[in-house]
Amino acid sequence: MAIKVKRVLITGTSSGIGRALLEHYARSGAKVVSVNRRRVPELESHYPSVRFECVDVRSAEQVERLVGGLAECDELPDVLILNAGINRVDNDESFQLATYKEVIDTNLYGVLNFIRPLTLLPAGEFPRHLIAVSSMANYVGNPYCLGYHTSKRALTAGFDVWSRMYSGTDLVFQQVMLGPVRTAIYTTDDEFPAWMVRIKDLFSASLDGTVGAIEQFALTRKRKLFYPWRAVPLYSGMWLGQLLIPGFFQGKKTLDGKARRAKGGSR
Ligand SMILES: NC(=O)c1ccc[n+]([C@@H]2O[C@H](COP(=O)([O-])OP(=O)(O)OC[C@H]3O[C@@H](n4cnc5c(N)ncnc54)[C@H](OP(=O)(O)O)[C@@H]3O)[C@@H](O)[C@H]2O)c1
Repeated sequence: MAIKVKRVLITGTSSGIGRALLEHYARSGAKVVSVNRRRVPELESHYPSVRFECVDVRSAEQVERLVGGLAECDELPDVLILNAGINRVDNDESFQLATYKEVIDTNLYGVLNFIRPLTLLPAGEFPRHLIAVSSMANYVGNPYCLGYHTSKRALTAGFDVWSRMYSGTDLVFQQVMLGPVRTAIYTTDDEFPAWMVRIKDLFSASLDGTVGAIEQFALTRKRKLFYPWRAVPLYSGMWLGQLLIPGFFQGKKTLDGKARRAKGGSR
């Protein structure tokens, strides 16, 4: 019989990848702890076997209370998929500090808040997989979404350190480097030029494929999963383009096509 994950915690299950993971694991009979910042009655009534926790991942106190409570009653899952994340345009006509901070608080601290209480726990007998859902955007960032790019990059730097530091212990630090997946975050790209959206369409992955790949990865001790593979040449090409082609994907113009800092422009 195939090995299965028995207990899993997933953050951000109200939509997209988190929701698809919840549905998949609940159907496969795993005990699921779902962490959302708000109650989602429709989801909760559909999956009565799932334990729904209302926690904003930006709050270190709320996350510590959650992890401590689960550990105390021996219900802390062996796989934690730290998936909650947002993407915002924060660096278009001007740099928007408040929006940038919101993205960093969610995508970076929303994961780091779990690490402190988990590393404080006594070593367990079985491996515990801490899986950060990151993005290939951390190698080649969209200049208009600076918070997204830098949050995923910092996440990767942290997980690179921890995966080496804790190798061979019960804590297994893993990262999922996703290319475009067809979800809500992906469709916010309506704001971007048509050529960017067309290219992403060509290289994007389905939700089902993504869930299957994450499920398989969570059964290993591998440090990184790149999914879908066909997005790797896309990001590599964009990375090279940014490096070598003057002005390519560097945000020289605002999203509506205006020259940056033209004299007499609106303030
Ligand atoms: N889709 C892609 O193309 C793609 C590519 C690379 C990486 N990723 C990564 O995959 C992850 C999931 O993205 P997705 O595409 O599935 O996006 P999504 O459909 O927008 O889902 C994001 C989830 O995160 C939750 N969330 C946001 N802020 C939260 C907070 N403070 N506390 C708790 N939950 C919060 C959202 O809840 P609400 O409903 O309450 O907002 C929602 O459930 C993200 O980390 C994203 O960066 C996605």
